[in-house]
Amino acid sequence: MCGIVGYVGQQNATPFLMDGLKRLEYRGYDSAGVAILDAGRISIRRAVGRLSALEDSLEKAPILGKPGIGHTRWATHGAPTETNAHPHTDDSGKIAVVHNGIIENYQELRAELTAKGHRFTSQTDTEVIPHLIAQELKDGAADFLTALRNALARARGAYAVGAVFADNPDTVYAARHGSPLIIGLGENEFFIASDVPAILNRISKVIYLNDGEVATLTPRGVRVFSLDGTEVQPEIQTVTLSAEAAERAGFETYMLKEIHEQPRVLRHLLEKNETLGDEIGLSADYFRKLNRIMIVACGTAYHAGMYGRLLLEQFTGLAVETDLASEFRYRDPKIDPGTLLIPVSQSGETADTLACIRMAREWGCKALAICNVPGSSVVRESDATIFTEAGPEIGVASTKAYTAQQMAFALLALHIARARDTLDDEEIAECMIDLRKTPDAIHRVISRKESIKAVADKHHDGPSSLYLGRKFNYPTALEGALKNKEISYQHAEGYAAGEMKHGPIALINEYLPVICICTKTRDEVYDKMLSNMKEVEARHGRIIAVATEGDQHVKGIAEDILYVPEIRDEFSPIINVVALQLLAYYAAQARGTDIDKPRNLAKSVTVE
Ligand code: F6R
Repeated sequence: MCGIVGYVGQQNATPFLMDGLKRLEYRGYDSAGVAILDAGRISIRRAVGRLSALEDSLEKAPILGKPGIGHTRWATHGAPTETNAHPHTDDSGKIAVVHNGIIENYQELRAELTAKGHRFTSQTDTEVIPHLIAQELKDGAADFLTALRNALARARGAYAVGAVFADNPDTVYAARHGSPLIIGLGENEFFIASDVPAILNRISKVIYLNDGEVATLTPRGVRVFSLDGTEVQPEIQTVTLSAEAAERAGFETYMLKEIHEQPRVLRHLLEKNETLGDEIGLSADYFRKLNRIMIVACGTAYHAGMYGRLLLEQFTGLAVETDLASEFRYRDPKIDPGTLLIPVSQSGETADTLACIRMAREWGCKALAICNVPGSSVVRESDATIFTEAGPEIGVASTKAYTAQQMAFALLALHIARARDTLDDEEIAECMIDLRKTPDAIHRVISRKESIKAVADKHHDGPSSLYLGRKFNYPTALEGALKNKEISYQHAEGYAAGEMKHGPIALINEYLPVICICTKTRDEVYDKMLSNMKEVEARHGRIIAVATEGDQHVKGIAEDILYVPEIRDEFSPIINVVALQLLAYYAAQARGTDIDKPRNLAKSVTVE
């Protein structure tokens, strides 16, 4: 969703702002703009569409000056037009603001300000902020910082804000409440940004602003205040990510790079967390006394949560439930302090997931997050975190974060099983041996990408496809379908194979690709999947199977097969999904879509 950058230093701001905005492109946006201080006045440039439109405009008529703020807007209030693009200003044009989040009481504030003579030019909620600040100054606020603090104290909702003021031409102001914002500390230059990868190439230290904090950045340094004006001592953290982690490294897209990174990510996670211990922040005694687990997440992370539920139930004997965060928050669940909430989130900023953590706190439950981004809101608001440490995920469609979440669940389930004595040491050791096979197995799937591409090339042009799986691979079917629709824009439906007869079987004809996840298992699920495939075959559906190397039964039924190495049932989804990621990838490539930045999608969904 909206991306914010800001630059304070000795150079012209434009190149830094544009570079930062490009690195934030993956968050999703439909217009962009910058505000730069130029000889004591603020120059603004905005453009609709891709950043190249803004870049072209700045090339034709450059703005020279410093400091500056920039923004990529993902439209919520008002269409993606130049007038609605940020930055927004007050009537005098001396205050410019960029904003991520939603000011919920903007209509009320706008009416009040209009009555006082302020003129609004956009349909956005954001525009009330510069006008509110101007009104505060008019009403006698001692300085711009006070006016900003007072203005924000009146705003309800979530915001991350960057601002400049023509009368304080060396300062960028920043504020945060509920939407992410960081301050980067470089060599004699300072930045604000929505996330670390945006400025990773310029900084090695960051301050994660807390909710309710406001900051000033000048060439002399950074100061942080609470909304009541008290100065606070910010915690400065060292960034451990390398700048290369946020580059494409020769791959044609970030998504392809991230698919290839999965063996390394999982190996790292295994090495680091092999014996998940008390360092995750919750003791063995806590897990022994636990009586229920509630997993909440959105999208791909929700599918990881569905898989996590199956593992936790099987290994720990606990009652486990998984729900969509956006649904859970409006339910009336019977939750008590004996329940552990597990929020799962790549970005750590998903609004619905965060809301669930806040609810759980009210009920006295602990929250153990599975998250990829240190310093993110989910991490800060949870009692403990298992970091997936997959590195920046820039491709909008989640890949390496998903398999890392799956691995985190596997390690957690074994840890809880040890604490509760539901698996003995030997069983846990056997599981670990099998888990350690997953990185090489994924590597093997990726090495067959050309044959997966051939299957995608053959089937990509239909209007729809159906994904079927059972038990551990039911979430894999949902995730495979989600990947396909997200990046190739082909309608795809994921279903529990046992449900096929209850409706979707009506879709099957000689044109419909039916992707069946039918890897070998020790239980009856494999035979049931074979029967389901037979039913599809009888109706002339075009079966693409994900099957275990050497499987002869599937060979006799499927039109095309994506082979994967054999592994214990419980861990097969970690491998199987990679074949489906590649299938979706090559289908999208054949359909000519913008794979890293699919239309309408935002990487980090910071509003409800
Ligand atoms: C799909 C995808 C989304 C996210 C969802 C939750 O490829 O990436 O469905 O999984 O928006 O995001 P996080 O994990 O950041 O909470």
